[in-house]
Amino acid sequence: MKAYISELISHAVHTISPSEAEDVLGSGNFDVSYPKTGFGDYASNAAMVLFKKFNVVPAASPVEFAKLLAEQISLQDDGDTFSTIEAQNGFINFTLSSKVLLNILSKISEAKENYGKVDLGQGQKILVEYFQPNIAKPLHLGHLRTAIIGDSLFKILNFSNYQTESDTHLGDWGTQFGLLMLAYKKWGDVETVKQDPITELNKLYVRINNEIEADPELREQGKAEFVKLEQGDSENQALWKQFKEWSWQEFGIIYDELGVRKADNDWPESFYMDKMPAVIDELKQKKLLVESQGAQIVNLEEYGLGVAVVVKSDGGTTYLLRDLATYIFRKQQGFEKQIYVVDNRQFHALAQTFKILELLGVLTSPTEAVHVAYGVLSLPEGQMSTRKGTMVGAKDLIQRAQEKALEIINEKNPELQNKDDVSKQVMRAALKYFDLSHNYKSDIVFTWDKALSFEGNTGPYLQYTHARINGILRKAEGITNEQINENSKLEDIEQLLLRKLQKFPEIITQTAETFSPNIISNYLFELSQIFNSFYEAVPILKETDSAKQNTRIQIITGTAQVLRNGLNLLGIEAPEEM
Ligand code: ARG
Repeated sequence: MKAYISELISHAVHTISPSEAEDVLGSGNFDVSYPKTGFGDYASNAAMVLFKKFNVVPAASPVEFAKLLAEQISLQDDGDTFSTIEAQNGFINFTLSSKVLLNILSKISEAKENYGKVDLGQGQKILVEYFQPNIAKPLHLGHLRTAIIGDSLFKILNFSNYQTESDTHLGDWGTQFGLLMLAYKKWGDVETVKQDPITELNKLYVRINNEIEADPELREQGKAEFVKLEQGDSENQALWKQFKEWSWQEFGIIYDELGVRKADNDWPESFYMDKMPAVIDELKQKKLLVESQGAQIVNLEEYGLGVAVVVKSDGGTTYLLRDLATYIFRKQQGFEKQIYVVDNRQFHALAQTFKILELLGVLTSPTEAVHVAYGVLSLPEGQMSTRKGTMVGAKDLIQRAQEKALEIINEKNPELQNKDDVSKQVMRAALKYFDLSHNYKSDIVFTWDKALSFEGNTGPYLQYTHARINGILRKAEGITNEQINENSKLEDIEQLLLRKLQKFPEIITQTAETFSPNIISNYLFELSQIFNSFYEAVPILKETDSAKQNTRIQIITGTAQVLRNGLNLLGIEAPEEM
């Protein structure tokens, strides 16, 4: 609709000033936005922006020009799309006609789960990198965020017609694995580790680091183990594989519990081992690499990005070098854009990576590599709060949320059939929505009551609203769904709800353009609130005028569909009953 309005405006400018239209439209960037209530569905500042650009002004003032434009546009629009096109204080306000509003219902019922799809990506290949755990390391709360945000962005970009794939970029390479190997060889016991691999391996890792303080020689031994691994030593290779397998068992649990898609590609850090030398050559050839105190660096001072170490003084490769190889490899796979869902503490590292890629000529536009730098998720009770006195990790949070969700369901609807399934769906909704309803950039403090509440701006509230509509629809079964009369008169609240449903595709575009799922969640919350006012204001099952009743049933059917589609993009299921 926004594009259509822009077109109407351009057309009107051409009619008003055929000689200057081209230049004026080329130099003035006007916008079409959502005005405050009472000023129509869309408003444009075109008159004010364009007025300044004319050599021969077409009206006495921008305010007068707005009137002229509004008149001209009204002549063009067949009268079907807008009920009014009005100039007000230099703005042009557009109000959708009832016909267009009612038409939304057939669009939704035809498109169903596809309603809202937009063609932003035009089939372009895009990669979303998210949920990048490190082997043998416990998953912390930050990993929950990347899993949740990344999974949602994946779905949103896919819905916006990008050809989307995901990658985990598993952390499985670096000297720390040499240390871990050494510790395992010294003190490890297969049977104990098998029971609870990540916890036990992490214990070994903590222990070796403690012992290094007294005996620095151990560090050298650890490094040597890593070198052996790099050189393909069979014992170390086998051990490293085993660590990886054990770790995946646990990461798998997170995928299952959270209901996050498994990654399409598994190109871990180790995958780039043999791809790094070529990058070094390329950097040398472009004269970007300089030697500094034995290390090989790229100097990025002039960009305010300090010094980037590519190869360490001991010859060891760096995380940064792997990241350079990663981007280049993925670009070679045809990904025209790469989205990194990585916490904001890695802002500097990725900024350096992207700058070097730009200097190499591999990255030609800032839109090709995007860092979705999310903030910290913490708990109000602080970090040290499991019974064992250790950090609360991803697994603990999920488990506790699951217990609480079940408690709530038991309390609210003890008769419910599939309580276990539903409570899992509620747990996911609570965690995911809490995260996704905030701007990803913000640091957030997880509040149990707020996340799990069935009221307010929460995931369970949206699920509940959806289930409530389904309840009404179950009772309405058998009432015929006739064709809606396009000329029926609509109540204000009905219009309000339809106007909201009509905006859904534009909300998807905005979300995909800014990588901000919170735009969808805010939209869904507002939609639910409008639905609840609607439900209080007008009868549905008790309505005696069958045409009106029929319209209302279709309005709520459409509302439920849009709620489902939106929740689905946030990775949240919408149970039929709860
Ligand atoms: N494995 C890292 C971590 O857990 C995140 C990886 C970020 N991705 C990247 N391409 N550097 O902190």
